[in-house]
Amino acid sequence: MKNYLFLLASAVSIHAQDKIADVLATEGKLSTLSSILYNNPALSQLLDDKSYGQRTFLAPSDIAFAKYVSGANITSAESHPSQTQMEAMLAYHIMNGSFPASSLASPGGVAASTFLQDTQYTNLGPEGRSGNVVYASKYGSSGEAGAAGKLEVFGGVGGSAPIVRTDIQYGNGYVHVVDDLLPLPQTCTGSMGKLSLTSLLQALNRAALAQTIDTTPGVTCFAPTQEAFAALGNPEGKLSPAELSGALMLHTLGKAAYSPELKTGTSYPTLAKGQSIKVSREGGSLYVSGSGGGKAKVVRGNVIVKNGVMHVIDQVCTPHFCDK
Ligand SMILES: *[C@@H]1O[C@H](CO)[C@@H](O)[C@H](O)[C@H]1NC(C)=O
Ligand SMILES: *[C@@H]1O[C@H](CO)[C@@H](O)[C@H](O)[C@H]1NC(C)=O
Repeated sequence: MKNYLFLLASAVSIHAQDKIADVLATEGKLSTLSSILYNNPALSQLLDDKSYGQRTFLAPSDIAFAKYVSGANITSAESHPSQTQMEAMLAYHIMNGSFPASSLASPGGVAASTFLQDTQYTNLGPEGRSGNVVYASKYGSSGEAGAAGKLEVFGGVGGSAPIVRTDIQYGNGYVHVVDDLLPLPQTCTGSMGKLSLTSLLQALNRAALAQTIDTTPGVTCFAPTQEAFAALGNPEGKLSPAELSGALMLHTLGKAAYSPELKTGTSYPTLAKGQSIKVSREGGSLYVSGSGGGKAKVVRGNVIVKNGVMHVIDQVCTPHFCDK
């Protein structure tokens, strides 16, 4: 037993010295990634350079690249039309810090900064994180599901990737293999479009807030579903721009608050003057409500956007609704 443990320990430590290419070569089903890194020394360097501290690489499998290639209608991932886009995509898969699978799998999940600093995809402001964020959870997109499911990572436009192999060590930290590529974060309104939140988009456009929501560094947007607008008789087509503006500001926080940062029982000031929303958790869900009651449930949490995060909710919080 003692000998076995010794062998195991030395095997791990040898592996832990390795460069990313050597480690990927010993694992199966990562050949597309290996060839992309081979042809892109800047990316290998992001992973191998000793001066960037501990990292956790979400390594896309051959399956992940095959799905990406067919979805993007390109001939191969290696001949991706834009090298900079591939670099941004893989930088988004490098988490800044050491995250063994056990830490990602804890209830509530983890919002981790990545190496994606490209300003086309990251605008979190001087007080925000320098790299955009991925959210990992074994308890669904807002980390609250009653029972543990599969360990997944959530990225841009509501995309997620299952972690299928965990805790492979390399010289600068951990590698976890994922079977999908995480989509890069887009603007708020771009993400709403991809998620078919058209009533919300119409409301933002009528209130002339789309640009503000897309360009303010560091925001949290609580985005009501189509059904939520329909249940109120589609006010986005009826209310005045000023009324809409007030209602939409009530759905927006002036900082990026991923679900682990939304503390139960805490009220957060919104961009609507003097109005805050309160966070609660019960029955396997995350809720937000106004001072007077009425609760909106987060039905899709942690959609990562360029300038923060969006949580999709099942009710519109009008000031009236929230104060009643
Ligand atoms: C895929 O790409 C081919 C060749 O560029 C093009 O002809 C075809 O319309 C594209 N299909 C889709 C669904 O975009
Ligand atoms: C990683 O985190 C450290 C410590 O917070 C920070 O100094 C560094 O700039 C980050 N690296 C990237 C690439 O964001």
